[in-house]
Amino acid sequence: MAAAHSSAGGSPEGSAFDWIDGQRRDREAAGLVRTLRPRPADSPLLDLASNDYLGLARHPDVVEGAARAARRWGGGATGSRLVTGTTELHTRLERELAEYCGYEAALVLSSGYAANLAAVTALAPHGTLIVSDAGNHASLIDGCRLARGTTQVVPHADPEAVRKALAPYDGPAVVVSDSVFSVDGDQAPLAELAGAARESGAGLIVDDAHGLGVLGPGGRGAPHAAGLAGAPDTVVTVTLSKAFGSQGGAVLGPARVVDHLVNAARTFIFDTGLAPAAAGAALAALGLLRAEPERAQQARQVALSLHRLLTGEGLTAVSPEAAVVSVQAPSPDAAVRWAADCRAAGLSVGCFRPPSVPDGISRLRLTARADLTGAQIARAVEVISRTAPAGAVTAGSR
Ligand SMILES: Cc1ncc(COP(=O)(O)O)c(C=O)c1O
Repeated sequence: MAAAHSSAGGSPEGSAFDWIDGQRRDREAAGLVRTLRPRPADSPLLDLASNDYLGLARHPDVVEGAARAARRWGGGATGSRLVTGTTELHTRLERELAEYCGYEAALVLSSGYAANLAAVTALAPHGTLIVSDAGNHASLIDGCRLARGTTQVVPHADPEAVRKALAPYDGPAVVVSDSVFSVDGDQAPLAELAGAARESGAGLIVDDAHGLGVLGPGGRGAPHAAGLAGAPDTVVTVTLSKAFGSQGGAVLGPARVVDHLVNAARTFIFDTGLAPAAAGAALAALGLLRAEPERAQQARQVALSLHRLLTGEGLTAVSPEAAVVSVQAPSPDAAVRWAADCRAAGLSVGCFRPPSVPDGISRLRLTARADLTGAQIARAVEVISRTAPAGAVTAGSR
């Protein structure tokens, strides 16, 4: 009731959200405050922070694909995919994505996050065992939390642990894993995971957000590279917001799975369809990937060069298996300062801290864009190593 509130909008005992201040103080004390920094369109910074792996987000064909779609179809999809939100662009994108990556069918959703929630919740109903890698992305974790099945978290990239989790269970089961883990850029042992799943008759759901466009021939993705594309027991989720330089997500797999998702996945049914401009941009990106398949290999080469040069400077970085290069920082505070120092020197890098890092180790996260030149790579390495905090460099290596 209005009378119960003070003139400042709170009751004499305090207001409903006072507890937030306590959380803010804890975050400040731990050096974990996050802030938004608007990016100017003409930023002079060298970008090693985005997920624009192939440098396609501002490619003229991709921009024109978005603009043409917006002019023809308007600013939004106008409704759920099941009502007015399916345009010819959506069905064409689904057909072409499935065909390029080697699956029977595809379903486009409004984000990769929504795609993961859709796949896990719809494929793990009550009575299903979900075996989930400890390093999985938040969207897969949330899919497990929302699903009616029961989740068992297993140690990172450990097919034997998956086998052990599945062995005593004789009901339906799914194994859920990222293909490339977003923090360290390491790959899941997909072929072995598929083997462990098959031994128990379990399905496999792979989030290929960081593999599509980068791994496999012509960037067809990590499951394709592992020989799993088109398998009847494998379902793959992707995002269109990284290598494709657009926005949106998709689930790829057997036609009957896609048909099931259309009827059962709440983040598909109760969500407005992907904006036409994003579908148009993704179609153009796919066209570029088809025409210039070498882009995928270039991104991997840039990652290897960055890793070689940075470790040569004494920094600790995980050997990249895709296009993510992760460099260890001594503390969350040091990581934030390091990223700020890089920015001041003209270089934009990602900064991962708890709770985004499962092992508590803060990192700089670098994106190896396919279109980085040798001079840009050298400049990035010079800035990162010059601004490195003391504990980040192995003694005696500089
Ligand atoms: C591994 C992984 N899966 C899913 C997503 C979500 O994709 P989107 O940004 O399209 O929602 C992301 C990133 O943002 C990711 O890194």
